[in-house]
Amino acid sequence: MCLAQRPLVYIVSTETRQFIPAGAVIRFAAMKISARAQSLTESATLSVARKARELKAAGVDIVDLSVGEPNFPSPEVAVSAATEALAKGFTRYTGNAGIPDLREALASDYRQRHGSFWTTDQVIVTVGAKMALFQLAQALFEEGDEAVVPSPYWVSLPEQVRLAGAEPVIVTTRAEDGFSIRAGALLEAVTNRTRAILLNSPCNPSGGMIDAAELEILVRACADRGLVLIADETYERFVYGGRATVSAAAFATEFPETVVVVGSFSKTYAMTGWRLGYALGPQRLIAALAKIQSHATSNPTSFAMVGALAALRQGEAQWLERLKEFEARRDFFLPWLNRLPGIECAAPAGAFYAFPNVTGCYGDGRGDSTAVAEWFLEGARVAVVPGIAFGYEGHVRMSFAAAREDLQEVYSRLQVLLSGA
Ligand SMILES: Cc1ncc(COP(=O)(O)O)c(C=O)c1O
Repeated sequence: MCLAQRPLVYIVSTETRQFIPAGAVIRFAAMKISARAQSLTESATLSVARKARELKAAGVDIVDLSVGEPNFPSPEVAVSAATEALAKGFTRYTGNAGIPDLREALASDYRQRHGSFWTTDQVIVTVGAKMALFQLAQALFEEGDEAVVPSPYWVSLPEQVRLAGAEPVIVTTRAEDGFSIRAGALLEAVTNRTRAILLNSPCNPSGGMIDAAELEILVRACADRGLVLIADETYERFVYGGRATVSAAAFATEFPETVVVVGSFSKTYAMTGWRLGYALGPQRLIAALAKIQSHATSNPTSFAMVGALAALRQGEAQWLERLKEFEARRDFFLPWLNRLPGIECAAPAGAFYAFPNVTGCYGDGRGDSTAVAEWFLEGARVAVVPGIAFGYEGHVRMSFAAAREDLQEVYSRLQVLLSGA
């Protein structure tokens, strides 16, 4: 039978059946979603944000504190450099690990700020810090391995460890202790299967930090035991109350084989949608990340990297003003929050989230952080993320990277809801 005489055969899943023309032969495909994908839950922060967006699209007036996203525009220098690069046709594949100028500028930035001697081939630019962390998990972990992760944790960290076949071992930090991250507690969780410790300081969602002395103990212990210390320093620039920033980068020269630092352009420069992050670490490991990247995303977007380079080269003056605003928002929002009945929140040391205890809002069928978040959304049209998404019940996360008017509006709405409860 020639091709034209054959009946049209469509292999479809139940969802696509509706698009099949009349008269065609239908064969159902038994599509199987992998156990790996099925075991994942959608990132809770993204799913709350999606729900809030859907409600907004349906005309509901939502104040959204669920997303960790500065409400500022990206730096003008970045926008104009990227626009110019685009106009000039800088639109092709670049080197897989990122454009050399940006890799060199990152190495030099860390050298100046932290005295680390990473060279260009020890730097990889990635599609967001999220992808740097994902690739690190893929490069370091295997079935049977463990990685120590303090909780509350950023939602993707344990899932990325699991996706690499390994087990996250969770170590809880405590609200009474300001969610401080302590070396001793992390090291106690180390076994002969542990390959790495995943440190996120300042922490999303708690704002807790590790201090310099504890960090030094941790770095030295990791080097002694041959563990990699992965320091996710996405919020490195968001540190308040006159506290000094502490970066694992300061130890990279002394412990070049075991210190890896991950950073992001997203928060510092309000460039979330540009999707640019990076990792600096031992050359052998960065080369492994580059290999994974070559099969996953290839290079990050060419002209976006040109914009990021301009932002980085602009220097500190611009963003210092902005960072001051985050501290001002924290100091503006926290007292309001603590005035709300049923809510208790210590001021976070860093990052830009309040992570209040909301157990005082339990009752009337509400017995966990998810129920409280749903109540806030339905009853006050305020979107927050339940603490359980970060492995920590009894709390919710509220981003104060939003405009002050929004923060004030959240207070007013919750005041009405909670006073009537
Ligand atoms: C702790 C932490 N690490 C990494 C990331 C990922 O950032 P990026 O936008 O660079 O992928 C985020 C984003 O929210 C984060 O909060």
